[in-house]
Amino acid sequence: MNQPSDYSPRRGLILDQVTKRYQSVTAVDHVCLEVKNCEFLAVVGPTGCGKTTLLRLIAGVEKLDYGHIYIQGRCVNDVGPSRRGVRMVFQEHALWPHMRVFHKDTASNLSFGMRLRKQLPQSIEETAYLIAKRLGIANNLFSRKPDQLSVGQKQVVGIGRALTIIPTILLLDEPLAHVDPQRRLALRHELKDYHNKMGSITLYVSHNLPEAFSLADRIAIMQDGRIIQVGSPTEIQSHPVNTFVKDFIACFEI
Ligand SMILES: Nc1ncnc2c1ncn2[C@@H]1O[C@H](COP(=O)(O)OP(=O)(O)OP(=O)(O)O)[C@@H](O)[C@H]1O
Ligand SMILES: [Mg+2]
Repeated sequence: MNQPSDYSPRRGLILDQVTKRYQSVTAVDHVCLEVKNCEFLAVVGPTGCGKTTLLRLIAGVEKLDYGHIYIQGRCVNDVGPSRRGVRMVFQEHALWPHMRVFHKDTASNLSFGMRLRKQLPQSIEETAYLIAKRLGIANNLFSRKPDQLSVGQKQVVGIGRALTIIPTILLLDEPLAHVDPQRRLALRHELKDYHNKMGSITLYVSHNLPEAFSLADRIAIMQDGRIIQVGSPTEIQSHPVNTFVKDFIACFEI
């Protein structure tokens, strides 16, 4: 059998037979997927089907057991999370617990990534204020630490933290799950707008199918660690590959 090359001639994100096992559980099972530059892909499926694990593998915070991940033509299997050009908003909103939301002169949740990249203080401040305004993070929250924020506020700060740096790939794991419906709608538009302007690849995990269908160029449906159908919202609705997909989308009024 030919060994896969460290380089792929194709750009974008490519998953080749990506597999992750936890003891007896195969969380991600030989997943093959190609996501083109500038594409917005929603990943949906029942609880425990492997969505978060798949995103964590792409981010590099989990190691694969088998397969290859290519980003912009380069195999990143052995590349650390900070060198992949990937930003992830975690399902459990993983903020730095000891840092405030934002402070212009010290490390804070919104400024951390920009400081690491040695951006100028004025540009850090401008970007943080701009992102906070777009996401509706009130300035009076800036001095708070994560344990002084509501779950929804933490989630929005987590999104803000990811958006302060323009990534090659933006991974969003149920980013709006704890946000009220009205705010959710506004944030959804912001995320789509950000995606369109920045030209990143976006992978968006959601349990809210109408939201996924309204945002995404294509939908990937997962079951038991495998991707069982990928297609545009219209294709998935009109030609579900099996009864699982048909029943899964029928649960929601799309
Ligand atoms: N660190 C771990 N150790 C052992 N098993 C794990 C671990 N992380 C995930 N799993 C298992 O892997 C499978 C996939 O989990 P994952 O979190 O990726 O699912 P998910 O699709 O994101 O679910 P949800 O919709 O509930 O967030 C599940 O069976 C889960 O129990
Ligand atoms: Mg999950």
